[in-house]
Amino acid sequence: NYYAIIMAGGVGSRFWPVSTSEFPKQFHDMLGTGETLIQKTFTRLSQIIPQENILILTNEVYNDIVLEQLPMVKQEQIVLEPAMRNTAPCILYASLKIKKLNPNAVVVVAPSDHWIEDEIQFCANLQQSFNFCEHDEKLMTLGILPTFPNTGYGYIEFDKLDTRPVKKVKQFREKPDYATARKFIQSRNFLWNAGIFVWSVSSVLKAFEEFQPTMFAHFMNGYEFFNTEKETAFIKDNYPLAQNISVDYAILEKAQNVYVLPATFDWNDLGTWGSLYDKLPKDEQYNAVVNASVFLENASNNIIRTEGKKLVVIDGLTDYIVVDKEDVLLIYPKNKEQDIKAVVAKLKEQ
Ligand code: GDD
Ligand code: MG
Repeated sequence: NYYAIIMAGGVGSRFWPVSTSEFPKQFHDMLGTGETLIQKTFTRLSQIIPQENILILTNEVYNDIVLEQLPMVKQEQIVLEPAMRNTAPCILYASLKIKKLNPNAVVVVAPSDHWIEDEIQFCANLQQSFNFCEHDEKLMTLGILPTFPNTGYGYIEFDKLDTRPVKKVKQFREKPDYATARKFIQSRNFLWNAGIFVWSVSSVLKAFEEFQPTMFAHFMNGYEFFNTEKETAFIKDNYPLAQNISVDYAILEKAQNVYVLPATFDWNDLGTWGSLYDKLPKDEQYNAVVNASVFLENASNNIIRTEGKKLVVIDGLTDYIVVDKEDVLLIYPKNKEQDIKAVVAKLKEQ
């Protein structure tokens, strides 16, 4: 009864210029391990979940990349979105498909672009979550011990006195502002949402029906076509009409039956160049170098990446991102890494 939904439709624009809308970060080998992030994700999940029960949700333009990178996946396991509508429509749509295949399914929803090293702990946590939700109406998320007031994450408040391994969530807050995030961290009873969810297909559909009735009814119109030849026409016409909203705002902030398992594996969402820098080995001056040979003087705390081992010569540079691609050279301060997304948007306008 175990199923997985891999969300692989994001564009990862803060990792520009390596991650682009033509070839986003989940399809890159960001850490130089020999496998792309989506390949890593698929292998990790298939240790517990039968491969044929893993659905990949992505934009239609990435179909060929998915087939090439995951040759064991059949076309019917890939759901092709005609438009980007964030994670709520993606999860609802996939859940309806799974329900039709198996109404007793328990599902893990996983991002395709995270870095998790300890697969044994990951599988143990996942198994524990499946056991916890299988027969109950519970929405579960995996929580990460926060280290700083990151405003790009969801925050989960739990009861400090609750000593059970899986805790009832008091409050789920998606992407709070900096002051609120700081307050949350100081109060010590908050975790970051890892963006990995576990629930029975019936529980999540019930939540969608309650909190997103329009979206729910809209996709239900096509239920009879799901997993048939007629589905392609339905998704093309109807998916783009769904509201653009993430599952965090759509469901988790609203539901009362949310639970959290504090994760026991290492986790990095590889959202920015800085988070990648943290994971990479560094030289004595704390420079992280990927795919490059370097000659550095008075250079420290930089992340330097080229394609094809280009020689990079730098003198007098600290805390910078230096990324060389065939058509783009990015030299950008690390402490402004969040702005890269806006830069990419501006460049598109030009
Ligand atoms: N199929 C599909 N379609 N996938 C999508 C879409 C879409 O339209 N939009 C995003 N995704 C995928 C991304 O590729 C990524 O794997 C995952 O869904 C999460 O989307 P992000 O855009 O990366 O979300 P986020 O980082 O802003 O926030 C989420 O993740 C944080 C942890 O990394 C939230 O769940 C936060 O609460 C959480 O802390
Ligand atoms: Mg993310």
